Amino acid sequence: MNKKLILMLAGLGIAFGAPLTASATPESDLKEFQGYFLKKFPTVPLEAYKDGVNALPQYADRVGNWELIMDFPPFEADIEKGEELWAKPFANGKTYSSCFQNGGKGLAVGYPFYDAATKKMHTIEADINECRVRNGEKPIKNMKYGEMAQLTIAFRRLSQGQKMAVKLNSPEALATYEKGKQFYWARRGQLNLSCANCHVQNAGNKIRGDVLSAGLGQGTGFPVYRTKWSLSNKPLGTIHRRYGGCNKQVRAKPLKPQSAAYTALELYQAYMNTGIEIKSPSQRQ
Ligand code: HEC
Repeated sequence: MNKKLILMLAGLGIAFGAPLTASATPESDLKEFQGYFLKKFPTVPLEAYKDGVNALPQYADRVGNWELIMDFPPFEADIEKGEELWAKPFANGKTYSSCFQNGGKGLAVGYPFYDAATKKMHTIEADINECRVRNGEKPIKNMKYGEMAQLTIAFRRLSQGQKMAVKLNSPEALATYEKGKQFYWARRGQLNLSCANCHVQNAGNKIRGDVLSAGLGQGTGFPVYRTKWSLSNKPLGTIHRRYGGCNKQVRAKPLKPQSAAYTALELYQAYMNTGIEIKSPSQRQ
């Protein structure tokens, strides 16, 4: 990252600087977060944020190219592979759908969530592996790309077009939400930047040729296909893979996918996306 950029980011006035006040509730955070973007980009309606950076006016000159890609998507085979894997019986004859209520239909809008029965946070990826283990299969090791990403796409597509509706209905869910929020707004790494510095205060600004997407809607399109990732033959990425990349950008140590901190961050982002549709997968810059 060049000096000019650091200066540009460091010189920011903090327009939205008090999200960590004690009196804030998730509901007031949500209103403030979504309201900030609706005001910052008045021509972009809430539902458009499902398309990530493509929704922003600053990306208008590139969006035609993205639409062309989406007409003949490079991830078509990954969708098929995911559906195949999802439907393929385990050695015991059962399939993934046996592990989920309603076969998994419509559930993705509520992930991640805290479950009082198992006393833990559940992500889609972790539940897919738990399903495997419960049925006598080995867990998938790589939680960033490959089969896990393909299966997550299959699972999320069972809720395609439905609006995110994560619930924070237990003290544990609330505590996890608070952790995720702290993570989002805390500065880190050698560059000393928070997620919000780039994706809230600088959303729409250019950084090394990329336009910074808005924090609002982030995750709704995941897992995504990136040309950059395709260069190393691993074009798909789960949301936690992306978090790792963004930690590295500020020269902070990336955490492990499925770590408690990334799951909390995912919960915070998923809650901020309340009311925005799932559209998975998608191509991204
Ligand atoms: C130095 C600026 C910077 C910081 C800080 C940063 N990111 Fe990013 N992030 C980027 C860039 C650049 C991209 C690629 C362009 C885009 O889509 O925004 C990106 C992309 C993303 C995406 C993918 C969006 C999509 O739809 O494909 C997510 C999700 C994301 N960042 C989350 C985070 C989170 C969470 C944090 C904090 C842990 C964070 N970022 C911190 C620069 C940053």
